[in-house]
Amino acid sequence: MSPDEAQKKIEALRKELDHHNYLYYIKDAPEISDFDFDQKLEQLQKLEADFPQFDDPNSPSRRVGGDITKDFPTLKHKYPMLSLSNTYSREELEDYLKRTQKALPDQELEFVCELKYDGAAISISYKNGELVQALTRGDGSQGDEITNNIKTIASVPLRLRGTNYPSEFEIRGEVFMPLEGFARLNQSRIEEDLEPFANPRNSASGSLKMQDSSLVAKRPLDCFLYFVMQEETLIDNHYDAVLAAGEWGFKVPQPEKGYLRKAKSIDEIFEFINHWDEARHDLPFEIDGVVIKVNSYAMQERLGATAKSPRWAIAYKFKAEQQETILESVSYQVGRTGAITPVANLKAVSLAGTTVKRASLHNADQIAKLDLRVGDSVYVEKGGEIIPKVVGVNFTKRDPQSVEFEYLKNCPECGTGLIRLEGEALHYCPNEESCPPQVSGRIQHFISRKAMDIEGMGSETVEQFVQAGLINNIADLYDLKAEDILPLERMAEKSAQNIVAGIAASREIPFERVLFALGIRYVGETVAKKLARHFEHIDHLMKASAEELVSVDEIGERIAQSVVEYFDKPEHQDLIARLKTAGLQFEVVQQEGASKSLEGLTIVISGNFERFGRKEIKELIELHGGKNTGSVSSKTSMIVAGEGMGPSKRKKAEDLGVKIIDENEFAEMIGL
Ligand code: IVH
Repeated sequence: MSPDEAQKKIEALRKELDHHNYLYYIKDAPEISDFDFDQKLEQLQKLEADFPQFDDPNSPSRRVGGDITKDFPTLKHKYPMLSLSNTYSREELEDYLKRTQKALPDQELEFVCELKYDGAAISISYKNGELVQALTRGDGSQGDEITNNIKTIASVPLRLRGTNYPSEFEIRGEVFMPLEGFARLNQSRIEEDLEPFANPRNSASGSLKMQDSSLVAKRPLDCFLYFVMQEETLIDNHYDAVLAAGEWGFKVPQPEKGYLRKAKSIDEIFEFINHWDEARHDLPFEIDGVVIKVNSYAMQERLGATAKSPRWAIAYKFKAEQQETILESVSYQVGRTGAITPVANLKAVSLAGTTVKRASLHNADQIAKLDLRVGDSVYVEKGGEIIPKVVGVNFTKRDPQSVEFEYLKNCPECGTGLIRLEGEALHYCPNEESCPPQVSGRIQHFISRKAMDIEGMGSETVEQFVQAGLINNIADLYDLKAEDILPLERMAEKSAQNIVAGIAASREIPFERVLFALGIRYVGETVAKKLARHFEHIDHLMKASAEELVSVDEIGERIAQSVVEYFDKPEHQDLIARLKTAGLQFEVVQQEGASKSLEGLTIVISGNFERFGRKEIKELIELHGGKNTGSVSSKTSMIVAGEGMGPSKRKKAEDLGVKIIDENEFAEMIGL
């Protein structure tokens, strides 16, 4: 294909992908299948790799991220990002309306009511229809530049639709995590022994600050835009500006869904408030109130702002839904790693549209801090969290005969004395070997999709096998025969065979996943991958000291300690020995032609090559132990430069003193 043809094709594909992205994420009305979308994206990626001269930072292919930012630069906002003053009652809101009318005595006021999204505020700027920069709110006068991370959010347009937008403008909105995605994210964090996020708001703002934008791309973030800042006044009121922004391709609050309405009186405003105070529980995302804004820009200007907040807008905050009920008892759950979580059993009470009988209590310290006692009348609240929590005690109702709460001393499942490690909030049951939920929990983790992915088995089968005494640990799985499991209840011949076949097939699962599947505390998918690649063989990992472990990129003290402790235990050494005999993968399979000649080097490639395709060079770098990254930084070891290396890359390389080599020198380094 000639460069001219390629350029045309690339542009056409980008347009097409932008359009389908808009239909899918903004209009909720896709016209092509995910498969077709991915095919087109792949086609674009291939062309972009072959013709890097047509690179575009706003290409839809950039949504997957990849750029890493160590420290986000702090930049000043062109206009400060103010906050809103809050009201909590009809009276306070009436006062606000009166004050506003007094400031504009000759005007008939019109307001716009919208939802107050609970996430992280951002400001994005566009120039000639292209996204150029995104900043967090920061302290209001300056924020962090998180452009690469914002670009991964599918509902944020990288290039605008049509031609009717101002040539330069800023738009503000809220990045949030929808509840479903939040629940999924936390589930997988719990599975990986990572601390779950407290609420969707924290997970949204935390995600925006991640250094690796390809990880941000995997976080289920979304963004509502609610405020257009224009210098050229094309539109004279907020309501129309929001709808216009919708036409330009932004996700904005839709009046059809009731997310946005005009109102002229306190009664109309309260219709909106009362509706959403109820209906918010059915929304797929969290809101913590509504925002009321004066519609006309001219009037907004006349009202102005205080140092902290505009006078033309105000928030009405919903009360966190709270109820009082009786704490009947406390029970305790034992997790896969032996961690104990206390749970409050409550007299059933209706809260935020659901019946609540249980609430989380977090840990022993929390119970002590609240001074909880069984029989107390307690307040439960549904805040940002999905599971309600106990937030306080109504001491006026406390029975004087009540006794101080005593935290559990022995495991509720196996009776072993609980321990609490220094610096940790949770108690643990140390009986890893035979505490039933720990035994089945570990096996369930082992067979799970991201670990050994054993088909035909689920958590119920594991439970059934453990109870029948067929398996007690993960190595026992590999001794199972169809005749052992056939006699079990509800077990058909076919299922039995499937299970045995599924277990056999797991022998092919690569080392890094086997390592993750072992369920070593703090060794999640990513850590397992890092350790496997570094140590290459389980024997080396088992012998590694804590010092050696922390020398591995991104492995900290806590992980190192946990790995050493795991392999120190004779029972784990026996387990590994049995799994080895069963034929599992315990070493990294070296690809043909692999070497370590580029180990420790971070290499950037730029331009076009004669001997190799760009993708081929990338693969060669990894095959020989190097790391390929996209942009030049002080960490770059060298640049392999081809025809047409970008001048900005060359300048940056020269400024940083990074070595530039050509493809022949590169080939020599890897012995080609
Ligand atoms: S307007 C000058 N509209 O609430 C104020 N803010 O306390 C411009 N927020 O930092 C903000 N939903 O993060 C506006 N529909 C909405 C909002 C909203 C949520 C957040 C925003 C802001 C905070 C103010």
